[in-house]
Amino acid sequence: MSNMHVNYELIKKYDKPGPRYTSYPPATFFNNGFTSNDFRQHVIASNSQHPRNLSFYFHVPFCPQLCHFCGCNTDVMKGKSFIARYVEAMKNEFETVTQFIDKDRPVTQIHWGGGTPNSISMDFVAEIMALITSKFSLAPSCEIAMECNPAYLTYSQIDKLAELGFNRLSLGIQDFNPEVLNLVNRKPSQLPVADVVNYLRTKNIGVNLDFIYGLPAQTPESFDSTIRQAAQISPDRIVTFSYAHVPWVKSAQKVLEQYEIPGPEAKLAMFEKSYNILVDNGYEAIGLDHFAKPSDSMTVALKNRTLQRNFMGYCTAENTGQVYAFGSTGISQLWDAYSQNVKNTEAYVEAALKDGFAIEKGYRLSARDLVCRAVIQDIMCNGYVNLENVANNFALPENEIVEMLNFNPQSLQPLVDDGLIIFDGRELTVLPEGRMFMRNVAMLFDPLFTGKETMYSKTV
Ligand SMILES: C[S@@+](CC[C@H](N)C(=O)[O-])C[C@H]1O[C@@H](n2cnc3c(N)ncnc32)[C@H](O)[C@@H]1O
Ligand code: SF4
Repeated sequence: MSNMHVNYELIKKYDKPGPRYTSYPPATFFNNGFTSNDFRQHVIASNSQHPRNLSFYFHVPFCPQLCHFCGCNTDVMKGKSFIARYVEAMKNEFETVTQFIDKDRPVTQIHWGGGTPNSISMDFVAEIMALITSKFSLAPSCEIAMECNPAYLTYSQIDKLAELGFNRLSLGIQDFNPEVLNLVNRKPSQLPVADVVNYLRTKNIGVNLDFIYGLPAQTPESFDSTIRQAAQISPDRIVTFSYAHVPWVKSAQKVLEQYEIPGPEAKLAMFEKSYNILVDNGYEAIGLDHFAKPSDSMTVALKNRTLQRNFMGYCTAENTGQVYAFGSTGISQLWDAYSQNVKNTEAYVEAALKDGFAIEKGYRLSARDLVCRAVIQDIMCNGYVNLENVANNFALPENEIVEMLNFNPQSLQPLVDDGLIIFDGRELTVLPEGRMFMRNVAMLFDPLFTGKETMYSKTV
């Protein structure tokens, strides 16, 4: 794969606010008109919809210490009795929701996210895993994953997770430089990261390491050294997130403004350097911020243009199911509906224990949304879309698809002229130089996006 050269002129031209497209339509369209009744009906309907596979997501919104940069849905650590009640609430929610799910549907993905799921007792995790297997069969290829903060990860925890069938852990490293971690109120890994990765390998557990660039005290040189260290450790996957500074949503991030936060140019230099280091070390770039070994299932799916994405990240067609989420803020992603749980953990526990549902908002996808989602997902995951294939998949004429997308082929011309994409009227391919502008391409197939929205982060 060729090296990446950041073109500052093109960045100036295309860098404007736009959705990140982790879902379509974006979560900003979720509304309070969606109730637990609606969710129940959509869960029943989901049994005969696509995909048949089941993905279960469990959200653990607790962290022993809050990092100042954090953009996740989390809360301070609670006492053991509250956590026990929270786990009971998730179990009750699971029992209630899964009454409506056909038991012959295979589970292909179980994901524990947070917050810090490895900050609660593994006995709680075991209780929920036992509840799942008492009701459903796991597919042999089922991916069972947990997001872990290495500051609290121990070998005995890993042993327990292996025993429970976990086969993928994401470790939030963020940076190897202790000065950076100190400024953002984060503890370093308790164990040497290289030893943890080697130990996970002996247990056949795949490993992702997460990093963030754009934090105080980071420079292109210091981040270069962190990423070189990561490449040397050689995990299956590496993710380099661009720090999203949104103090108007996450007020805790304001603390970081007392330090110098790297500006756009320094961030782009970090992006470019880390990209090239990882590619030079044999990793394949997936989207903008994911890197995986050539033999990894994610890389293979990208090559076959079958890579998909849900709120938990990229996934292969084999592992992707409709997502049923449990816990506060959890987002379920069914064929034609999204549903999100309440954020406040106390309110979640009360509702989930009482009603088995704790829905705050959601969205019903229209026939048009389904088509747009398919096209935007293809562009964002695979950098490729073929309108004839989309028309065939939806059993609709191609001109009707173009109309539904409100798509004007002329709008692609500047991207073609700048050498970012190829388009022959039917088949669109994003070129390596266009990778950074994938969101700009997707926006041209999004009839809900007017260009006047101000709540989104910039596209590059
Ligand atoms: C939900 S966190 C879970 C991992 C675990 N709590 C930890 O911190 O190790 C998932 C990842 O999101 C990333 N992240 C969190 N806040 C971010 C922000 N403001 N901008 C970009 N990435 C962020 C971090 O890399 C983190 O590892
Ligand atoms: S980054 Fe992870 S550990 Fe830090 S506050 Fe966010 S969820 Fe918690």
